[in-house]
Order: sequence, then structure tokens, then C-alpha cells
Amino acid sequence: MRIAITGGAGCLGSNLVEHWLPQGHDILVLDNFATGKREVLPPTRGLEVREGSISDRVFVDQAFEAFAPEIVIHAAAAYKDPANWEEDAATNVMGSIHVARAAKAVGSRRIVNFQTALCYGRPSRVPIPADHPVGPFTSYGISKTAGEQFMRLGEVPVVSLRIANVTGPRLAIGPIPTFYKRLKAGQACFCSDTARDFLDMQDFLAAVDAVRALDAPTGVFNVSSGQAHTVREIFDLVVAHLGLPPRDVPVTPAAADDVPVVALDPAETQRCFGWKARIPFAEAIGRQLAWYDRYGVSDVYSHLRPTDGAKG
Ligand SMILES: NC(=O)c1ccc[n+]([C@@H]2O[C@H](COP(=O)([O-])OP(=O)(O)OC[C@H]3O[C@@H](n4cnc5c(N)ncnc54)[C@H](O)[C@@H]3O)[C@@H](O)[C@H]2O)c1
Repeated sequence: MRIAITGGAGCLGSNLVEHWLPQGHDILVLDNFATGKREVLPPTRGLEVREGSISDRVFVDQAFEAFAPEIVIHAAAAYKDPANWEEDAATNVMGSIHVARAAKAVGSRRIVNFQTALCYGRPSRVPIPADHPVGPFTSYGISKTAGEQFMRLGEVPVVSLRIANVTGPRLAIGPIPTFYKRLKAGQACFCSDTARDFLDMQDFLAAVDAVRALDAPTGVFNVSSGQAHTVREIFDLVVAHLGLPPRDVPVTPAAADDVPVVALDPAETQRCFGWKARIPFAEAIGRQLAWYDRYGVSDVYSHLRPTDGAKG
């Protein structure tokens, strides 16, 4: 298959590249390295990396025209600066429109869009079903929601995944790497009084494999465990993993712009695709911590082996 991955140098995108290249797929990555790292995608046979922004329509059109992807994985997203509405809109709204238009122009068969749980805003029910109304209230959530809706307006079949917090290689943000780094350095920690739905990378990759099938259903689906676990639970698991004595930690109220509890109901995803998360929470966190033991809390390690004469 010819697969284009926008944002392919990011955490989820680069794990998909490592998952699919050995299976013989040809992959095109479009990335501006705003949060992704070039080093995680060394020159490898079957992989082409083009540097540029999806907010540049000509860049997207030319790359798609030359590569003609059958499947498009839309993982590029801007979120770094919550005050930079312009960048969020340029990437998450206009960029999504450019990707949808270019996919249509070259006859792509399917788009898989990655969506944030923030699209649901402050949910009225937990776990949140995929048909819960959207109600984003942050620049990232608002722009990602508009981008998703434009993609679904286009003519290329779209499956949009509302994704839980994925743990796996190169995860460099959130409570897990923060506690690991700080506790190892003997620094103080605090926990926000929030709970999130965590999903192991292996389960995430299996979900994307299921939904990228050309005859699979389209629409919006949650990719999640369906269970919320507190930040405090993560703290305790990191303490235990590091062999430190159990300890108290201040738990501070959720910030005003935060959603206290997020859990996404995956029932419809299981019904339509036969997919469900298999790796339990504590095991997923343990696998993440073992990865940090081996590679450190760094976001540049790549499992790809560079090959001679590969496309850059
Ligand atoms: N990781 C998760 O747990 C999670 C959960 C829910 C949703 N998502 C969604 O999945 C996608 C990937 O997330 P991630 O965690 O891998 O984030 P990431 O920051 O690691 O990856 C995003 C990638 O997009 C690239 N990018 C940003 N702006 C771009 C632009 N204008 N043009 C081209 N590339 C650009 C970045 O450089 C980066 O490589 C995002 O759309 C995100 O909203 C992720």
C-alpha cells in the first residue's frame, strides 16, 4: 500500500512508520518538525520524508501528486501554544482542508483522521460515547473539531478516531515522563485531581490496522480503554517502579480550563471493527516505564535501521 502520513515524525505517526515499513508498505511523511523530530525517521528504504507545512496548499498538492497515496493518515496537528489561535487554525483547519482536497484530487481511497478527546468539551456522560455532541472550548479542540468536520464533508471516505492517551515509545509529555524524571532526580511532585483514559501503543496500532482496511466502516469512533485512571494512580505506579518507598503527594484541584475526568466509550468501535484494548492499565504504564529505563525520557530514539540508497 502507498500510505501518506501527515505529522509522521510525531509520536503516533513515527510509531506507525516503524510498524508498517517492515510490512513492505511505501510511506510518505509530511512534517514541519514543529513538535516531531527528524531524527526518528532516518533514511530507510520505502520511506520518503518531505519537510513542509500542511498549511501550504501547494506543498501538500505537489507531495500528494508525486506519491499518489491510497491511504492517508492525518496525524499532523498544532497545539504547542494555546494562545496561538492562528497557528492552530492554519494547521488544524486549513491544513486538514488541504489534505482532504489533495486526497480527493489524487484518488486516495480512505482518510484516517486522528482526533483529540477535547472535541467533546465538558462531557455530560462518562464514559463518553462517540455520538456524544462535540463542544470544544480550547484553541486546539476548536480547530481540531473544525478540521475533522471539513474532512468528513469531503468525498474521500473518512474514519476519524477520537483517541485516548496513548502510551508508548517516545512519549515525552504528560504525567508519566514528568513523574519518572522528577522522582529519579529527587524532585518534588504534585498531582492534578484529574483522571484519563490510557491506551498502550500496541492496542493503538491494532486499531489503526483495523480501520485502515478499505472496506471497513467510516464515521467517528473512540479508540480507548473506556476506563479513567487518576494521575495519582500513575504517581504511585512510578514510585513503585523506581523502587521508592510509598509516599504522599499533594493533589491539586483540576485547572479551570481542564476536564476533570475523561474516559471514552469504545463499545461502537468494538462492534464495528472487532477491536478492543487488550493491555491493562498497570501493564501499559509498566511498559512505558521500562521503555524510559532503556532509552531515557527522550523523544529521539528510533527503531528504524537506516538503509543505503534509501529515499530521504
Ligand atoms: N498521542 C495521543 O495520545 C493523542 C491522543 C488524541 C489525539 N491525538 C492526535 O493524534 C495526532 C498525533 O499526535 P501525537 O501525539 O503524535 O503528536 P505529535 O506532536 O508527536 O505529532 C504531531 C506531528 O505533526 C507535526 N506538525 C505540526 N504542525 C504541522 C504542520 N503545519 N505541517 C506538517 N506537520 C505538522 C509535528 O511536527 C509532529 O511531528 C494529533 O492529531 C493529535 O491531535 C493524539
